[in-house]
Amino acid sequence: MWHALIYSCAGGAAVLYALYRWVIPAAVQYHAGLALLWHDYFVERLLDTLTQSTRPQRLLGAVKKNATRGDPRSVVKAIDQFCRQKEWAMNVGDEKGCILDSVVSELNPATVLELGTYCGYSTVRIASMLPPHAKLITLEFNPDYAAVARQVIAWAGLEDKVQLVEGASGDLIPKMSEQFEVETFDLVFLDHWKDRYLPDTKLMEECGLLKKGSVLLADNVICPGTPEYLEYVRASPRYESQYFRSHLEYTKVEDGLEKSVFLG
Ligand SMILES: C[S@@+](CC[C@H](N)C(=O)[O-])C[C@H]1O[C@@H](n2cnc3c(N)ncnc32)[C@H](O)[C@@H]1O
Repeated sequence: MWHALIYSCAGGAAVLYALYRWVIPAAVQYHAGLALLWHDYFVERLLDTLTQSTRPQRLLGAVKKNATRGDPRSVVKAIDQFCRQKEWAMNVGDEKGCILDSVVSELNPATVLELGTYCGYSTVRIASMLPPHAKLITLEFNPDYAAVARQVIAWAGLEDKVQLVEGASGDLIPKMSEQFEVETFDLVFLDHWKDRYLPDTKLMEECGLLKKGSVLLADNVICPGTPEYLEYVRASPRYESQYFRSHLEYTKVEDGLEKSVFLG
């Protein structure tokens, strides 16, 4: 009798674990809404409660455990492994990250603005490819995320190349030249909340932060999606725009990056 009870409890726990660990993640990876609901809502809350820590803190733990200090590529690899094997997180990810790398390497920018730092994954990717004396300013309005990102960037040995500024993009963009001594940006990586892409692009134009040849690279233009922004950069004669098809980070859901060259 007791044996039967113990076996059925163990069997039930094994089924639940298999559902949580493999079956549901595999089932939701083709569906944008379900994937975000599962990873970003259910799993994150569950693990936050069970571990009394936050996802960024757990990601930082994985970096400290698995990446080599001063080696940016090992930091990127440790985060990708954490996100593929343990917990999904909203970094640009390995697949779209390769497109980001190729744009950075082609442009060889001296000044870069990143909108949306989160844990510093894309910051590390970009900064590790910049030429000497180049400057990357990254904006993050969540102080908890910013605190983790600073440690991730420092672990990668890139703190001298990166200026992480805490605050909202809409407040900081108009202060770029006066407070941060940057007149124009060669590259802007837009990866903050999606409803800010268009207003912040217009704000950068108004503030004269874009020059002929400046590149806007926008993440998540399909998932969660930025329809007004896409319509604007694709229709405007001031931009030459190109879509790079890919997948939402660590899933099989379609997503992509939009590269838009400012024509002046
Ligand atoms: C998708 S995550 C950024 C991911 C990061 N670029 C990467 O690939 O590793 C978006 C981040 O933007 C931040 N954010 C959203 N809107 C913002 C705004 N208006 N100003 C500053 N940060 C913002 C959020 O707090 C969040 O951390």
